[in-house]
Amino acid sequence: MLQMTSLGSSTLPLRLLSSISSSTAATLMLVGIVVPTTTIAAETRPEPEPTHSSSANQAQVDLGRYLVTVAGCNDCHTPLRLGESGPEPDLSRMLSGHPEEVVIDTVPQLGDGPWGWMGSYTNTAFAGPWGVSFATNLTPDENTGLGIWTEDIFVEALRSGRHWGQSRPILPPMPWPNLAQMTDEDLSAVFAYLRSVPAITNRVPEPLQPVSSESK
Ligand code: HEC
Repeated sequence: MLQMTSLGSSTLPLRLLSSISSSTAATLMLVGIVVPTTTIAAETRPEPEPTHSSSANQAQVDLGRYLVTVAGCNDCHTPLRLGESGPEPDLSRMLSGHPEEVVIDTVPQLGDGPWGWMGSYTNTAFAGPWGVSFATNLTPDENTGLGIWTEDIFVEALRSGRHWGQSRPILPPMPWPNLAQMTDEDLSAVFAYLRSVPAITNRVPEPLQPVSSESK
């Protein structure tokens, strides 16, 4: 109410303004007498302008955290470790991708089936007809994570299924065709959240090429 009056003051004629102001003041007084706590709440409410951008940003990060959780990004991008009751996500390495010290330099042979692919015990390396893919470091680390990625590169990668949004195809089992269906707002929120997690230095290897049929 107060804010509307002050907004109007630049455009409304003076006489009209003074009549609005006095009726507003009367209403406020009435509210003040009948329900004093309402007046206190209104007075202590923060100014909308300065807090707006940071609370909007926080809301975006919260939405991103929610989407990353329900879309299961951690399933592949956070390594599993052996806990007391079995494998569990190693949250000290949250979203940092395939651990660099778990060296995988051979492509396992799967034979003619029925098995079609396999995963490492960390659930961050995956072998199949595409060779071996390694879940990427999604933390904001400058050199080994998404540090230098822009939101545009991120959105383009997930929409096009191309590495960095432009080069080689992104390999399975990264579910980019599903993630490509997210709205612009959701993809921005996921990126904002990924920007907010702790940066972890972990260099994920390049994918390994499939063994060609001649060398089998
Ligand atoms: C089923 C496993 C799996 C899930 C779930 C998954 N990813 Fe991935 N992701 C991968 C793998 C494996 C790669 C590496 C693919 C490659 O090297 O081509 C990857 C790569 C990426 C890349 C790098 C793309 C590029 O340009 O190289 C981004 C960004 C990414 N994932 C984001 C996400 C986000 C965000 C989610 C959740 C909304 C998610 N991923 C869920 C397995 C997964």
